[in-house]
Formats: sequence, structure tokens, C-alpha cells
Amino acid sequence: MSQSPPDFYIGAPVDPDDLCFRGEFITEIHDHLRNHHLILSAPRRTGKTSVMDYLAAHPHGGFSPISVFVQDISHPADFILLLLDLFHEKHPKWFKDLFAKGSGLIGKVLGRVGEIEAQGFKVTLRQQEPDWRENWKKHGDEFFAQVRKSEHRLLLLVDEFPDMILNMQKHDASLVRPFLAWFRGHRLTPHPKQDHVRWLLCGSVNLSSTLDGIDCLDEINDLMDVALPPLTKEQVIEFVETMLTSRKVSFDPKVPAKVARELGRPVPVFLQMVTQDLYRMAKKAGKPLAVRDVSRAFADLIVTSGARDKLQHYYSRIDMYYPVPKAAAAYALLAKLAISPAGLSRASLFAEFEQSLVQQGDTSPANKRKQVFNQLLRDLENDFYVAEIKAGHFDFSSGLMKQWWRKYYA
Ligand SMILES: Nc1ncnc2c1ncn2[C@@H]1O[C@H](COP(=O)(O)OP(=O)(O)O)[C@@H](O)[C@H]1O
Ligand SMILES: [Mg+2]
Repeated sequence: MSQSPPDFYIGAPVDPDDLCFRGEFITEIHDHLRNHHLILSAPRRTGKTSVMDYLAAHPHGGFSPISVFVQDISHPADFILLLLDLFHEKHPKWFKDLFAKGSGLIGKVLGRVGEIEAQGFKVTLRQQEPDWRENWKKHGDEFFAQVRKSEHRLLLLVDEFPDMILNMQKHDASLVRPFLAWFRGHRLTPHPKQDHVRWLLCGSVNLSSTLDGIDCLDEINDLMDVALPPLTKEQVIEFVETMLTSRKVSFDPKVPAKVARELGRPVPVFLQMVTQDLYRMAKKAGKPLAVRDVSRAFADLIVTSGARDKLQHYYSRIDMYYPVPKAAAAYALLAKLAISPAGLSRASLFAEFEQSLVQQGDTSPANKRKQVFNQLLRDLENDFYVAEIKAGHFDFSSGLMKQWWRKYYA
């Protein structure tokens, strides 16, 4: 962490200089990367990209990192094009040394210096190979072959990887398995230990359930799962103390713990928003923050437009990622939970679920309904909406989200 007070970040990835609480996790990633390719999945706005940015800014273990954001990619050819383009941009000399020697297309394109300067590498590459799309495997193989001849090591940080797979599925489902199988082949041979290329795939959508749904789960079973640890209560308290103290704000010593309590599951972006709000309140009032100011800050937050956008996403993504009949049932369960004073039992949630299925005209047999319900509850837990607060009893995992849901959707 830098010397000046860390900035507030309301949605954008945290600058590597301001990143706190991730030291141990980053060491763990470095350790695993020695022998494995990794996958990091965690819900949105929990700090994945911030960690990836840190890894990109602080190379380790002899790896030169490249970050690619693939959320909008829907074809393997575009994925490979993007890798090549970023590699060329980030490490131009290394790239030239490697590929200019090769006899493949990429080497030839590198000779067209004037065109590359005028229109960029990517466009030139595509112009020289009209069948780029069809030949994605060949070009991908050339990429791997040349990189593996290098003495240097390359770490590829791929952000929102599961979204790319979902896009491929929508765009042309017949591409998904060939792409995953090809990609897996390159991760298995050579063994990661001997390989100069290392992958860290990252995603907000759970890749396993995405692939399970299209029967491709076996194509990623070589990847090692790493879980982004949730912030602890102590870290939440430390965060509030640091952010306020470093800005010369006085506060009742009970304020940070009160923030931790009201926050519930500490979604980092909500923690940032509420702390920034407290800071603004203190500045305006010109007196020390009291415990009751924390409740006010939470109540204010759900009506400010900045917070609304962030929270709105949690609402809309259900329609995007939860198939029928789960989406409507999820909305029904969450609406019910939002008005419950202290959560609901699994049995009450199941009753609500059954009712939603009846309304949707779903006539699946009882055992099937039970199975879908169990899946749905698991999805809602994995995606951070709910938590099992005690055995068989569920509530919103974030107090802030619950208040917001109650206000707008209950
Ligand atoms: N280590 C951290 N400490 C405090 N806040 C964090 C931390 N990491 C992330 N955040 C908060 O989460 C928000 C989203 O971070 P980001 O890395 O983009 O998450 P993701 O990629 O999982 O969506 C940031 O704007 C910031 O508010
Ligand atoms: Mg991200």
C-alpha cells in the first residue's frame, strides 16, 4: 500500500498501489502458478480484476504477464487474435524476436512494417489472412509453438472467461467443444511445469455450472480452482478505520464494527460506498461520526444513483443467467426474503418456489422440482444473493442488498 491515503473505488478495479488485504492470496496464486493453470471465480464486484491487475503490474516467478478482457468475444479466432495483438503491443521486441523467425503467417505479417504502423497489427493480420476465422486452430497452434520456443515465460490473465464461452454458445454452439478441447490440449501438453505459458482464467459467472449445462465440464477438469477469500470482519473494521483516520475524520470507536454488522457479507464495493458516504457526512457535519450515522449512511446509499446502478446489476443478472423456471422463482424467493425480518427456513422457501412453478405453468414431477429448487438455492448462494445464516435458515447475504431489494422489488 502507498503512503498517501488509499482512494475510494466505487466499481472500477482498485489500483495495484491501493490494493489491501490480498497479500496472502497473491502469494498463494504465485505458489500454485508454479505447477498449475488456474481458474478464479467469484461473484462480480468482489475484487477479481483488482487482483489480476496487481498480478499484471507486479511480474513474479519469471513470468511476463499479459491481461486480456474477453467478455465480448464470441469466436475462438477473435480470442487468438486478441492474444496476439496484446502480446505484440505489450512486448513488441520479444514478439518480433519470436515470430519473425517463424515460417508461419505471423512472421510474414511482421514484415509489413508500414501497414502495421498505419493500421495496427490486428488489422494487418486479418487482411493477410482472409480465412482467419476458419483457421483459428492453426494460428493458435503457431502462437503456442513460438512462445514455447522462447526462454521467457508468459502469464496470460484472462478476465471474464466464462462469458466468452457463453457468447460462443449463443453465437455458434458447435464451436464450444472444439475450442475447449483444443485449449485443454494446450494446457495438458506439455505439463504446466515444463510449459512456458501459464493461464489464469477468471470469471464472475460460475464456469462449472455454465459448462455442466452444456455437458462440457470434463474440458476444464485440469484447471486448479482458487477461491478469492471474502474480506473478514477484522479487515472490514481495519478498512473503515484506515480510510477515515487517514482523512482526519474523527469517529466513535464503535463506528467501524457497526459498519461490519450492517454490511453483512462484505461485498467490497458496498464497503467502499458506505465508507465514502460516512466520510462525506463527517465532512459536511464537521463533527465526529456517531454510531447512528452508520444506519443513516446505509439508508441513504440505497437511494443514491451510484449505488442503484451497482445494485441494479444484481437484479438484472438473474434474468440473464438463470434459465426458466429458475429466474422467476429466484425473484419470488428474494422478494419474500427481502420482507422477512430475519430470513426464512428452507421449507418456507420451498413452498414459495412451488408456488412460483405453479404460476409459471410448470408441471414437472415432485422429485424434479426438488432438484431444481436445491440447484437454485445453491446458485443463489454461489452468486452471493443469500447465505445460510444458521442450519436450514437463509437470508440475504448482504444487508445493503436486502434493504435495497425491499425498497424496490418486494
Ligand atoms: N481489496 C479490496 N479492498 C477494498 N475494496 C475492494 C478490494 N477489491 C475490490 N474492491 C472493491 O470492489 C470493486 C470491484 O473490484 P473489481 O476488482 O473490479 O471486482 P470484480 O472484478 O470481481 O468485479 C472496486 O471498485 C472496489 O470498490
Ligand atoms: Mg472484473
